[in-house]
Amino acid sequence: MMAKTISVTIPKNVPNHIAIIMDGNGRWAKKRGLPRLAGHRAGTENLRRVIRACVEFGVKFLTIYAFSTENWGRPTEEVEGLMHILEEVIDKEIHELKQEGVQLRHIGRLEQLNPQLREKVLRSVEITKDNDRLTLCIAWNYGGRDEIVCAIRKMIEDGVQPKDINDDMVSNYLFTAGLPDPDMVIRTSGEMRISNFLIWQASYAEWYVTNTLWPDFDREELLKAIISFSERDRRYGRLSNCNE
Ligand code: FPP
Repeated sequence: MMAKTISVTIPKNVPNHIAIIMDGNGRWAKKRGLPRLAGHRAGTENLRRVIRACVEFGVKFLTIYAFSTENWGRPTEEVEGLMHILEEVIDKEIHELKQEGVQLRHIGRLEQLNPQLREKVLRSVEITKDNDRLTLCIAWNYGGRDEIVCAIRKMIEDGVQPKDINDDMVSNYLFTAGLPDPDMVIRTSGEMRISNFLIWQASYAEWYVTNTLWPDFDREELLKAIISFSERDRRYGRLSNCNE
C-alpha cells in the first residue's frame, strides 16, 4: 500500500519555541514485544525526523524532555541504557548537527552524570554555540522544581536583595536563561500531566496532547500540532482582539 501523503500549507504563525514531552517509548516497545530500550532507540530515531521537520517549518527553538530528575528511579539497566544512548547520539550526530546550523543547549544538572558524558555534553554545547538555525535544548537530568531550587540558591549566594527580585531576574537564574519561553508544549501518548517540565517557563504556553506514541510522532503529526497552535487565540489573561 502506498504511504498517504498529506499536502498542507505551513501556517504563517509557526511557534518560535516548541517544547516536547516525548512520552510513550515504553508502550511503543511493549506493543511490539520488544524491550523498553528498543522503544527509546526508536524514539531517538524519531527525534532526528522531528529536528528536520522543525528546521523545515521554521521553528527556531526545540526543547526536548529526555531525562528527568525523577527518571533515576527507573531500573538501572534502563537508566544506564539512556545515558549510553545520549553518549552515542553525541558521538554520532554532533558534527552533522554543527554543519546543519543546530545549536545545542543543555538544561538540568550535569554534575550527577559521569565525567566523560558531562564533558561530551559541555563540548557539544561549546562547539555549536555560534549556530542559529535551530536551537536544540536537551533537558537531561532536568526537573522544574530542582531548577527553581538551584536558582534560589544561586540568588542567595550572589547576595541578591529581595527588592531586586522580579520575573526577569528569576528567568535569568534558571537553566533556560537567554532562551525564549516555549510557545507550545506537546505531550505524546495521551497523558495530561506537566511532569515537572518547564513549570516556570511554560506558564502561558499552548498545550497540545496527542495519543500518538513518541516514536510514531512524525512530520505530519508535528504539522497538525503547529496548525492547531496557529488557530489558537493567545490572550495571556487579557481579552481577545475581537472583544476589544
Ligand atoms: C518517555 O517514555 C521517554 C523517556 C523517559 C526517554 C526519552 C528519551 C529518548 C527518546 C532518548 C533520546 C534523547 C536524546 C537526547 C538522545 P516512557 O519510557 O515513559 O514511555 P512509557 O510511558 O510508554 O513507558
